[in-house]
Amino acid sequence: MSSINLPPLFISVFIISLFSSLHFSAALAIGVNWGTAASHPLPPAQVVQLLKANNVNKVKLFDTDPVVLQALSGSSIYVTVGISNSMLRSLNSSLKAAVSWVHDNLTRFVSDGSGGVRIEFIAVGDDSFLQSYGEQFYPFVVGAAANIQTALTKFNLADRVKVVIPCSFDAFQSESGLPSKGKFRPDVNKTMSEVLTFLSKHGSPLFVTISPFMSYHQNKNVSLDFALLQETARPRNDSYRSYRNSFDLSYDTLVTALSTAGFPHMDIVIGQIGWPTDGAANATPSIAQAFLKGLMDHLDKISGTPLRPRDPPLETYIFSLLDEDQRSTAAGNFERHWGIFTFDGQAKYQIDFVHGSGKLVNAQNVQYLSSRWCVVNNNKDLSNISAQVVEACSAGDCSTLLPGGSCSNLSWPGNISYAFNSYYQQHDQRADSCAFGGLGLITTVDPSVENCRFVIGLRDSLSSSLCRSSLLHWIISPVVTILFCLLRVTW
Ligand SMILES: *[C@@H]1O[C@H](CO)[C@@H](O)[C@H](O)[C@H]1NC(C)=O
Ligand SMILES: *[C@@H]1O[C@H](CO)[C@@H](O)[C@H](O)[C@H]1NC(C)=O
Ligand SMILES: *[C@@H]1O[C@H](CO)[C@@H](O)[C@H](O)[C@H]1NC(C)=O
Ligand SMILES: *[C@@H]1O[C@H](CO)[C@@H](O)[C@H](O)[C@H]1NC(C)=O
Ligand SMILES: *[C@@H]1O[C@H](CO)[C@@H](O)[C@H](O)[C@H]1NC(C)=O
Ligand SMILES: *[C@@H]1O[C@H](CO)[C@@H](O)[C@H](O)[C@H]1NC(C)=O
Ligand SMILES: *[C@@H]1O[C@H](CO)[C@@H](O)[C@H](O)[C@H]1NC(C)=O
Ligand SMILES: *[C@@H]1O[C@H](CO)[C@@H](O)[C@H](O)[C@H]1NC(C)=O
Repeated sequence: MSSINLPPLFISVFIISLFSSLHFSAALAIGVNWGTAASHPLPPAQVVQLLKANNVNKVKLFDTDPVVLQALSGSSIYVTVGISNSMLRSLNSSLKAAVSWVHDNLTRFVSDGSGGVRIEFIAVGDDSFLQSYGEQFYPFVVGAAANIQTALTKFNLADRVKVVIPCSFDAFQSESGLPSKGKFRPDVNKTMSEVLTFLSKHGSPLFVTISPFMSYHQNKNVSLDFALLQETARPRNDSYRSYRNSFDLSYDTLVTALSTAGFPHMDIVIGQIGWPTDGAANATPSIAQAFLKGLMDHLDKISGTPLRPRDPPLETYIFSLLDEDQRSTAAGNFERHWGIFTFDGQAKYQIDFVHGSGKLVNAQNVQYLSSRWCVVNNNKDLSNISAQVVEACSAGDCSTLLPGGSCSNLSWPGNISYAFNSYYQQHDQRADSCAFGGLGLITTVDPSVENCRFVIGLRDSLSSSLCRSSLLHWIISPVVTILFCLLRVTW
């Protein structure tokens, strides 16, 4: 039999490659980012149901909201919690503050094996090296991370929870646009060196954002096909290495920057990657779908990149699970439309997200406010309406009305109605929030047109936003808080 006569070298190569492919597929993990900067967030328990129904077993949060952690408690979902940039200064200057943070926000939730939350990582800072923030957080980030690390050790959690420092998509770059010239942005270079030393010392990976969407918008050399990981894209050559998509190009730019900094083997986790569906050119559900399909197919192949062949990112977190209408639009209106699901948990497109299922499952039993909308009263003189529009858009979400948005084709005053309705829903359909100096009118006829959806708010949001408030928790006793929340939910 020929198989018995295979040379030992062949067999051992075969076994090694079998093991390494097993190792890699075990290592390949897809998670999602779950942000809560929304006026009407889906209740956390429903979000956890949504994650389970879609076989998502890794989630990255941006804070340590007790209601969210409670909802994750007892599930088998692995969790990364976050520390906001605004806390970095105090966590750097005071070990006591870090110990309190770990005590209050971690120890009472962390899994003891039988229950609790499976917290794997603490992300210190939220993309604190974004170029638009300037250098304000540089002096605190590593000190804050070190204090959190010391606090974890004190509570005997250091072997279960790792401290990471998320790195923004613009912290590394290449002037030629080619990976072989990759380096960290000069202003953050020194801080990055300290970050990498810290991570390396504790065996933690580097969490990084990769943004083919931003690369496409900022770089004339990146075609849409290339950004969307389509087979048809024209490759770009970096001497003898050929790049077939923007993801590999950015990844290897980072790999070169890491090597230059003296950390060629640093493990990489993609902390955020996604494509928005509204608020900019080429931000549509079908393009986002093409991007995610391209990305999933690419990660599935486990081929790695030219500089790290067969060595893909340890984990990849899609940005984002749900739309968030309170995110800052400083970078663009698309910021509020990163969700795979709308704010109320409805899939915007279909994708084979975590293998097997083939389809996305929507959130179940979503509790909406009544079927009521606020629109402009056409029988009134609307010549002076601009002050009311400013009022509506200051609190409401008008990000879809501007050029590139799904509602930008609404003619006047339909677009004013859209703004009025957004404000009204954000105020839980209170009658006085549709006043607008007598120019607003409440209707039970859905004004939505084609792709432009006039939303209805979620009913539970008032209760959950109040239950969420830690201030309330501190002012009145926890028992009263729980009673209060139960009452609001049933109300
Ligand atoms: C950060 O914390 C260290 C240790 O407490 C302190 O020496 C340093 O001054 C702090 N940095 C800033 C910028 O406050
Ligand atoms: C716990 O985290 C929350 C934000 O998630 C923060 O507001 C609070 O101050 C933290 N607690 C401590 C003791 O730092
Ligand atoms: C764009 O591509 C051209 C030619 O391939 C190259 O010379 C140029 O440096 C690139 N520019 C950027 C910003 O990548
Ligand atoms: C910072 O820049 C210098 C000079 O370009 C380089 O030698 C060093 O490795 C860089 N450090 C990092 C962390 O990239
Ligand atoms: C890139 O390199 C490949 C071979 O590796 C070659 O066939 C192709 O023509 C090159 N493309 C460009 C634009 O230089
Ligand atoms: C609109 O504003 C102008 C100037 O403030 C005022 O004179 C006019 O009466 C207003 N028209 C209506 C219909 O309120
Ligand atoms: C708006 O109208 C233009 C021209 O009719 C059309 O090309 C475009 O796709 C429309 N945009 C949206 C978001 O519906
Ligand atoms: C509504 O549409 C009109 C006419 O197209 C435009 O001038 C106005 O700026 C729009 N308003 C808003 C809030 O988008």
